[in-house]
Amino acid sequence: MLLRFPLFASLVGSAIAATPAQWRSQSIYFMLTDRFARTDESTTASCDTKYGRYCGGTWKGIEKKLDYIQGMGFTAIWITPITTQMEGTTADGSAYHGYWQQDIYGLNSEYGTADDLHSLISALHDRDMYMMVDVVANHMGYDGSGDSVDYSVFDPFDSQKYFHSYCKVSDYSDQTNVEDCWLGDSTVSLPDLNTERNDVQSLWYDWVGSLVSNYSIDGIRVDTVRHVQKDFWPGFNKAAGVYCVGEVFDGDAGFTCPYQEVMDGVLNYPVYFPLLRAFQSTSGSMSDLYNMINTVKSTCSDSTLLGNFIENHDNPRFASYTDDISLAKNVAAFTIMADGIPIIYAGQEQHYNGGSDPYNREAVWLSKYDTDSPLYKLIAKGNAIRSRAIYQDDGYLSYKNYPIYQDQTTLAMRKGYKGTQTITILSNKGTDGDGYTLNLSNTGYEAGMKLTEIISCSTITVGDDGKVPVPMKEGLPRILYPSSELKGSTLCS
Ligand SMILES: *[C@@H]1O[C@H](CO)[C@@H](O)[C@H](O)[C@H]1NC(C)=O
Ligand SMILES: *[C@@H]1O[C@H](CO)[C@@H](O)[C@H](O)[C@H]1NC(C)=O
Repeated sequence: MLLRFPLFASLVGSAIAATPAQWRSQSIYFMLTDRFARTDESTTASCDTKYGRYCGGTWKGIEKKLDYIQGMGFTAIWITPITTQMEGTTADGSAYHGYWQQDIYGLNSEYGTADDLHSLISALHDRDMYMMVDVVANHMGYDGSGDSVDYSVFDPFDSQKYFHSYCKVSDYSDQTNVEDCWLGDSTVSLPDLNTERNDVQSLWYDWVGSLVSNYSIDGIRVDTVRHVQKDFWPGFNKAAGVYCVGEVFDGDAGFTCPYQEVMDGVLNYPVYFPLLRAFQSTSGSMSDLYNMINTVKSTCSDSTLLGNFIENHDNPRFASYTDDISLAKNVAAFTIMADGIPIIYAGQEQHYNGGSDPYNREAVWLSKYDTDSPLYKLIAKGNAIRSRAIYQDDGYLSYKNYPIYQDQTTLAMRKGYKGTQTITILSNKGTDGDGYTLNLSNTGYEAGMKLTEIISCSTITVGDDGKVPVPMKEGLPRILYPSSELKGSTLCS
């Protein structure tokens, strides 16, 4: 019996196969493999985003920079697709991003070898971190227009019979058009798989199961989910056997939430848009965000399994709307403290400000991985207090966050049971914001209780009337937590 335990432990270590419940407590750092870190650890190699070409990031490069990622408190990474891509450079650029695959069994050699990928994943698991890999089941990628595709270049879908006949997606109000027509353009077309076919379904389900087991992947991010019919996804998610989070690029909770009936989670686009509107200037609306927090909670089947974000590779960086650092701190604090799994996009911690694709895909190495940057430190604090709350209260993660207060420039929200709740106060006053005391009710804290404000590390005593005097300044976010629950923590000591 004694001998069996180490054997069991080592098997577990090589394939975690993480469930939705295990993912709920994670915090994800997302990067384009090509743009995060190079094997040579260069911090000067040029990378002009406008050309849309490979800049030299690799899996080895990521492995060498895990301290930088873990130093912000992340427990997981999400990397862009790993499959073999269309080669060469077109007027649309090259396949450096990974969304133009041709051979789903091969690996993109630009990022390294199978050994490099295994080594990265082992290094993550040695740190008790998870690996999430991005996959695309909707389409392949072809260098040429949709009416001139040579299907024999694809593995395994090497015949036209596996695909929907060619038409361009042209009407987002028509779901048949969205599902059956093709993305891409006449330079690079994205041949759209006929996912209604049984053979296409079996190929995908077998593939995703073997991908997860061959590489010991812990979670899957699924691309272009709304472009495939809903009944394809339960079988795909089940075959993956790990938490899957899907991209449904739509801000309408009534449209996006139903995809959580067919997949473990979806990216939280419904919250993304009002979050951006509330903080992209000092006159944004708080009430849209306030309302959407409640709408998502009542519309999605489980808001605590959604992926929260304010930046990704498909949308302009937050700092392209405003260079105000306090506003950037507020959206990062929201992303980490709200319901769901926080996702921070590589470069966000360095306040990168690229606009639309391809400008939002700057090389992170050019920041020299500055661990003293204001957002690096803010994110580290946010992840640390979130982990602390999770550790102190095993009900914290499934407790549904709710807004307790709003005014024209402020939103406060509560997550967690009485006594171990966090209260997050967000402001869009910006760095020029005045100093004042916000007297906050409905926090659930008892009169006389001592609280620690995590961002400034100041101590606050709840008033006799139950109101919490929150010191607001320079438009900074505030996160409150009972001081007694921080004993033994280095967060503010
Ligand atoms: C996983 O490995 C098996 C056995 O070598 C192979 O048949 C399968 O195609 C691999 N799957 C992927 C996605 O690479
Ligand atoms: C909050 O209460 C304090 C003490 O009563 C008071 O000085 C302050 O003006 C109040 N803040 C606001 C914004 O009303």
